Amino acid sequence: MKVVIIGANGQLGVDLSLVFTAQNWSVVQLTHRNIDVSLCDQVDSALGSANADLVINTAAFHKVEQCENEPVQSFAVNAIGPRNLALACQRHNAVLVHFSTDYVFDGNRREPYTESDLARPLNVYGVSKLAGEGMVGLTWERSLVVRTCGLYGVAGSSGKGGNFVETMLRKAAERNPIRVVDDQVLTPTFTGDLAHAVSELVRTEDYGLYHVSAEGQCSWYEFARKIFELEGLRVDLKPVSTAEFPSPVRRPAYSVLSKRKLRSIGIEMPSWEEGLGRYLTARKLKTQTIKAVSS
Ligand SMILES: NC(=O)c1ccc[n+]([C@@H]2O[C@H](COP(=O)([O-])OP(=O)(O)OC[C@H]3O[C@@H](n4cnc5c(N)ncnc54)[C@H](OP(=O)(O)O)[C@@H]3O)[C@@H](O)[C@H]2O)c1
Repeated sequence: MKVVIIGANGQLGVDLSLVFTAQNWSVVQLTHRNIDVSLCDQVDSALGSANADLVINTAAFHKVEQCENEPVQSFAVNAIGPRNLALACQRHNAVLVHFSTDYVFDGNRREPYTESDLARPLNVYGVSKLAGEGMVGLTWERSLVVRTCGLYGVAGSSGKGGNFVETMLRKAAERNPIRVVDDQVLTPTFTGDLAHAVSELVRTEDYGLYHVSAEGQCSWYEFARKIFELEGLRVDLKPVSTAEFPSPVRRPAYSVLSKRKLRSIGIEMPSWEEGLGRYLTARKLKTQTIKAVSS
């Protein structure tokens, strides 16, 4: 079985490549240098020559502030891109997995959002991702749209340059006071755990929309506190409100995704605390390997 992974050097792309390789898939890794998903001809020729059974699209334009100022580019990558991929997958009869976001919701609820809850994004990024979901569902029935939340992976987000855990650890090393918002609640998700769940999901051939994030919930402040606790670091960490960090972009105050549908097909996600522990171990192994190779 052959899988094409688009956005292969992003944090999710790297972990998907590892998981599918370990499961004996033939893995074709395409980065932004090889393919621009917003360009229909490039997508069609890349997928035409790949002859894949499965295409996984992790490519996104997801710097939310930049999306707000560049709606045309947001829609080109996050909505037209998935449409191009869905059309090409239909033409070449490959299953498509596409990722979306918790930011399709407005955050007014206080209990986990299900797949059938009304999506009402608060920003251009969310609107463009919701349009991408629609394009995929509209175009190709053998497709999976996976909404996820708060990703962090050992490769670091290629689009955002790092991830929240690394930012917190860097700030702790600088020994400055750290202030983190305590009124945005989410579920941080390790990309290794998400990649495993996706590899199980594609085997079900049960297509459609799924919420896939870790179990549980926390604020960004609680997430930071757990990082420092697990690393045994004493840090001057204080909670602050979103209002104290003015931003031109509105973000949902609550974006926890219900995994009831995922569980109903037999796929369980670990808690966010377990995922964080696994991530911290994986990043240490990576550092040790780099040191061993360079010494
Ligand atoms: N990160 C999060 O917290 C989060 C939360 C919810 C949902 N998601 C969704 O999860 C997915 C994966 O996110 P991630 O954190 O793994 O992102 P990432 O690390 O930034 O990886 C995205 C990859 O897509 C590539 N890319 C960007 N524009 C492209 C284009 N036009 N054509 C082809 N490739 C392009 C990037 O390459 P370059 O960097 O070289 O441009 C990068 O390799 C995305 O769909 C995102 O919307 C992410």
